[in-house]
Amino acid sequence: MNKDLISGFDLERKDINAIFDLTGRLKKKKDNTMLKGKVVGLVFQKPSMRTRVSFEIGARQLGAHCMYLAPQDIHLGKREPVKDVARVLSRYLDAIVARTFSHEHIIELASYGDMSVINGLSDLYHPCQALADIYTLYERTGTFKGLKFTFVGDGNNVVNSLAAIAAKVGLDFTVATPKGYEPDKDIWRQALKIARETKARLVHTYDVNNAVKAADVIYTDVWTSMGQEKEHKKRLKAFKKFQVTMDMFKHASKGCYFMHCMPVHRGEEVTNEVVESKHSIVFDQAENRLHVQKAVMALLLQGKSK
Ligand code: CP
Ligand code: NVA
Repeated sequence: MNKDLISGFDLERKDINAIFDLTGRLKKKKDNTMLKGKVVGLVFQKPSMRTRVSFEIGARQLGAHCMYLAPQDIHLGKREPVKDVARVLSRYLDAIVARTFSHEHIIELASYGDMSVINGLSDLYHPCQALADIYTLYERTGTFKGLKFTFVGDGNNVVNSLAAIAAKVGLDFTVATPKGYEPDKDIWRQALKIARETKARLVHTYDVNNAVKAADVIYTDVWTSMGQEKEHKKRLKAFKKFQVTMDMFKHASKGCYFMHCMPVHRGEEVTNEVVESKHSIVFDQAENRLHVQKAVMALLLQGKSK
């Protein structure tokens, strides 16, 4: 595996297999020695519940120490240059989990520091989320082939990451967005290139009805991501026809799952009824963040000395 996990594109198919294998093993049997003596720092510029708690608990369960550095502690990129933060923290820490506004900050931390950098969400990617989501689907179905995974909503950081991992594992991935809210063009192009090799079918459409037809998964995320709060009103209008409702499941395949990275804004991107329905596996996704990230940390750090 590479030194860092910045996006799903950093992972080879064999790395994803190794992550999923170890996730399964760690879920069955705890091991509190794998990262004994390692120190993981969480450098966060945005709020978080799942990412913060699952990384902190995960690191501790593997025997590592973990410390949370809040936005006001570091003032990343404001109090001192990111490249200085990287070079200082790499003298103390074995890994940083970083949650930033600008994706460039994650790249800078990784290129100036010799510790591993794990992207805990940036404006472009949320790779740990996508890994946990696709693991959750695999856990349920035992396969990536022959499934239609549909995302409805904003072509945001979660979509970019799902596209990268879906392409790598050969999972068919359809994204329905309103005009003006497509996934990042370069990332989508990169994912399409990989999908050609793995035979994953990646489709972007503006037609939400067609996108959910025969879907095995309907996934959505918030319409207004962290940092976009000023656009909230405009986005509510733009996404109105993209709310996930129970009606969509009538056109989806039987047993279609509902997925969401959470936090959920009930009444916006999805109705309360869907979140609470038998289709919903959102809490399994949230739980699997813990198990998948433990595997990621173990594979990145185990056996490496500073
Ligand atoms: N899904 C997710 O990353 O949640 P948090 O923002 O609470 O970490
Ligand atoms: N797209 C959302 C994901 C939150 C986990 C955001 O960036 O705010």
